[in-house]
Amino acid sequence: MKKLLLKSASAESEIYIERGMLENAPALCAGRFPGRRAHIVTDSNVAPLFLKKITELFEGAGFSASSSVLEAGETSKNLNSVSRLYEDFSKARLTRADLAVALGGGVIGDTAGFAAATYLRGINLCQIPTTLLAQVDSSVGGKCGVDLKQGKNLVGAFYQPHIVVIDPDVLKTLPEKFFCDGMAEVIKYGFIADGDILNSLSAELSGEALLDIIFRCVEIKRNIVEKDERDLSVRMLLNFGHTIGHAIEKLGSYAKFSHGQSVALGMKAALKAGIALNVTKKDSLALLNDLLRRYGLNTDTPYKASEIAEAVSSDKKIFSKTISFILIRTPGEALIYNLSLQSLEQLIYEIFREDF
Ligand code: GLY
Repeated sequence: MKKLLLKSASAESEIYIERGMLENAPALCAGRFPGRRAHIVTDSNVAPLFLKKITELFEGAGFSASSSVLEAGETSKNLNSVSRLYEDFSKARLTRADLAVALGGGVIGDTAGFAAATYLRGINLCQIPTTLLAQVDSSVGGKCGVDLKQGKNLVGAFYQPHIVVIDPDVLKTLPEKFFCDGMAEVIKYGFIADGDILNSLSAELSGEALLDIIFRCVEIKRNIVEKDERDLSVRMLLNFGHTIGHAIEKLGSYAKFSHGQSVALGMKAALKAGIALNVTKKDSLALLNDLLRRYGLNTDTPYKASEIAEAVSSDKKIFSKTISFILIRTPGEALIYNLSLQSLEQLIYEIFREDF
């Protein structure tokens, strides 16, 4: 069994990564937490696949198990869902000794994580990610939160899950497009920290190869979060592709382009920006395009430079006039490049031309 410990100023996260690991999650929780009530939070896509099984496993491990099923999709990532979870936690009579279990992708991890972080000022939290994107990125590192109508992720917390159980075999139930979406984040890890990941990405990944790739991505994230839990320095590298990616996601009303697809286009834009600034090696772009195509990710955007520039500058998370933009020197090596919003807008006009 592969295990990583993430030790931050606020808590210690135990991260288990192994095929078939889902079955062991309740026993791990029974060993770590004193309480015997487990409330499982999941969504309408995941519930038919795993809720019955996981409930029985928690009951078998001595828990009294209850659950909430949210509507699948980004529109559930809001304060109404959090409020509903508080009610359900309360009905389940959870105490701080008990636990919330987030069983799902990024939306469930973020929403249930935030509810767990704030209910009774913090109850125990187990993350069981069921998408590749959540397994390699969002379930680890403690960022959780929900969207406001003013923008994405505007309310949230840093709250480390006490246990994360990553079972690559649950990904077999995923439609292909979700898998490809997660590959964008895998490619991100390769570009920011480990060029070898990029070399190991064949079109068909065996179960063991995928396990190794997930482990390596989580290990990179663990190392970064241990240095900078609060996103003040090196953690910003994880935002490679996200500044312009978020703008593309927003322009498509969070429906036309998935998060991974948007990040894929954002990474391409960031490489082009780096080449224009003489920071990025030119052949990085061909490598990225090749990898994106290999996983069915689009390399073209229908948006004009003016639309993207407007969406970037109206991002409610950009409160200052300076942006920490993430550039790549060479695959495996990233840097934080501070530039003014105005310079970024100019770069966007240079990047998003006919030949993007
Ligand atoms: N998903 C980026 C981070 O956790 O910082």
